[in-house]
Parts: sequence; C-alpha cells; structure tokens
Amino acid sequence: MSVPTISTEELRELLECRAPVTVLDVRPAAERAEWAIPGSVHVDAYGALRSGDPTALTDFHPTNGGPVVTVCAAGKTSALAAQRLRARGLDAVSLEGGMRAWSLAWNTADLPFPASTAGVVQLRRTGKGCLSYLIGSQGDAVVIDASLDPQVYRRVAEKHRWRICTVLETHVHADHLSRARALAADTGAALCLPTTDRVSFEYAPLKDGDMVRVGSAGLRALHTPGHTPESTSYLLHDRALFTGDTLFLAAVGRPDLEASAEQARRRAHVLHASLHRLVALPPETVVLPAHTSEPVAFDGRPISATLGEVQKRTSLLRETEETFVNQILTRLPPTPPNHHRIVALNEAGTLPDDPTELEAGANRCAVA
Ligand SMILES: [Fe+2]
Repeated sequence: MSVPTISTEELRELLECRAPVTVLDVRPAAERAEWAIPGSVHVDAYGALRSGDPTALTDFHPTNGGPVVTVCAAGKTSALAAQRLRARGLDAVSLEGGMRAWSLAWNTADLPFPASTAGVVQLRRTGKGCLSYLIGSQGDAVVIDASLDPQVYRRVAEKHRWRICTVLETHVHADHLSRARALAADTGAALCLPTTDRVSFEYAPLKDGDMVRVGSAGLRALHTPGHTPESTSYLLHDRALFTGDTLFLAAVGRPDLEASAEQARRRAHVLHASLHRLVALPPETVVLPAHTSEPVAFDGRPISATLGEVQKRTSLLRETEETFVNQILTRLPPTPPNHHRIVALNEAGTLPDDPTELEAGANRCAVA
C-alpha cells in the first residue's frame, strides 16, 4: 500500500504559516537528541514499527488538529508509521526523505534596526543550524555565508525588492557546503572572500579594513583569524557584527579543524587576540553568528545577542590568554562528520548533486 508523503518544502510552509499540524518523530531517542523538527512530538516507535509489533503507536493520539506528519531518519519507517495511523482513520502523511531531506528546511527572522540605513534578514537553516544573512539597502543586497539553495536568497530578496549584488563568506566552512559561489553565479553578484590561498576558484579578495558597499550602507571587514586563518567578521555601521564561526552567542570558534595539535595551539592564541579585538567594540553591538547548535523555531525571532550579553554568557572571553588556550583545547567537541570532504569541496568551490548526504549531523564549530 502506498502512503501519501509531504515534501520538506511543503512541511516548511505549513510550519511557517503556523497551520495546525502534528509532527510525529518516531526515531530512537539517541537519534532525536542529535537534531529534531521544532515543535515535533516524539514517540520512540522505531523498533516496534520495524518488527511489525501490532501495538506500535496505538497510544498516540494527536491533539493539534490538522494532519499528522510522521518523521524518521530517511522516510522509510515514517511511512510505516503513517500507514498505521491511516489504518486508524487519521490523516497521516510521511515526510519524504526524513530528517536528511529536512536538513534543507529554513525560516527567516527580520532584525529590528529602526532608523537604520540597511535592513537585515537572518536566514536560518533550521534543519542544520546554519545561519546566513541578507543585508539590503536602497535596492541592493549582500548575502553573508550562503548555506541554502540560491533560489531561497533570491526569493527573500525579491520580497524586499532587493537585488543581490555581492556574496560574502566569513571563512572556508567545514560543516556545510557553501552555496556562495553558486549564488554569485546564479545572480551575477560579485563573490568576495577574505584573502586566502586555500580556494582554487576566482574571487574578489578582502583584507582587514576593506569596506563592502551595499546601497547607502557599508560592511567593514575585520580580519579575526583563529577558527581558521582567513576568518573575517563584518561590521555593519557599529550596529551589527557578523562573526561567522569566530564568536557565537555563548561560545567561541574551535581552532583545531584541519590543523595539527601544534597549529591548533597557535591558532587558539591568535583567536584570543581576535576575540579581544571584537569585545572592544561597543557593548550594544548586535552579534550575528554563522551557526546555532539548536533547531530554529518558526517564530521569526532573531538568534542574536548584544556583545555585552555575549561577554556575560561566555566565560572563555574573561580568561587570561594562557587559560583561554588551555581550556579551549581541552573542551573541543568531536569533529564535525565528513569535515575533510566538505572543506575540500568548499576549497574547490564545487557542490555534489545531493549535498545533504555529506552534510548530515549537527554543527560542531563551537567551544563553550
Ligand atoms: Fe566554521
């Protein structure tokens, strides 16, 4: 019996317009702990469904109204779940491709900068935790750290009547495949990267202090090495600071990816200096990082904090250089899955047909 399915984009739209829907996650608890769909309910029915246990999901009763969307890792066990629920007369559909396909789901939040010359939209890849930004002024727009399909940025820019003129990266990423080059090719925008000899494609190099114009606004490049040698933050009029993976809202970037133990220690020292440069900016500056470690709700609320708040939350920022370096190196999380292959593809500027296969797993660029 074939079971009706729903695509990631269809479910994304339902959640975005806050339509009544119950998302039922049937994966084992350990898999759900890695990543989940915001607002989903969990019943660990994986084993029971796979073994054909007739009692699987009999205790599940949706309370939300609307359809039930069943979810598993790749869309097979969720089809069994939907079949069970449909046999009970419920309107149930299975999420096509499961959590792997959901990796591409996204939502947005507008940043409230009243009286600013620029508008800022945060694009959140909720299925993965990547944060990218669209900054528009007087009809022009810049994208920072594109991690979604080019048409997503075009769509959001069109809504604001902005034309994407420049595509920026904060660094060569290790936990998602950059869509910056594809977006620049798709829109005809200039592709600007911090100066690096790591990549093998053409780009406009940015150095410390360079200004990237967007309409009547400007983004100043601040070279903040440490997470990677080329890592750069962008400052929008002393108001918003796009920190990439150098500084998060309660953590700092890890210095050890693609580095030997000795290089990681050296990078940690460099990172300490970069962070001190950033925290010397006005405390009301809004910090906008490139990742979050939690699935992002469809709530339109930006993931951001003032620099003052970030300093309070991040104990590493208050340590002496020696303690900072020792603590960061002992607190490193496991390396992101497939990061060598992702870095190699980002350095080459190529995208595989199905990026989600390599991008599976949570972001792990931060040390708290
Ligand atoms: Fe990174």
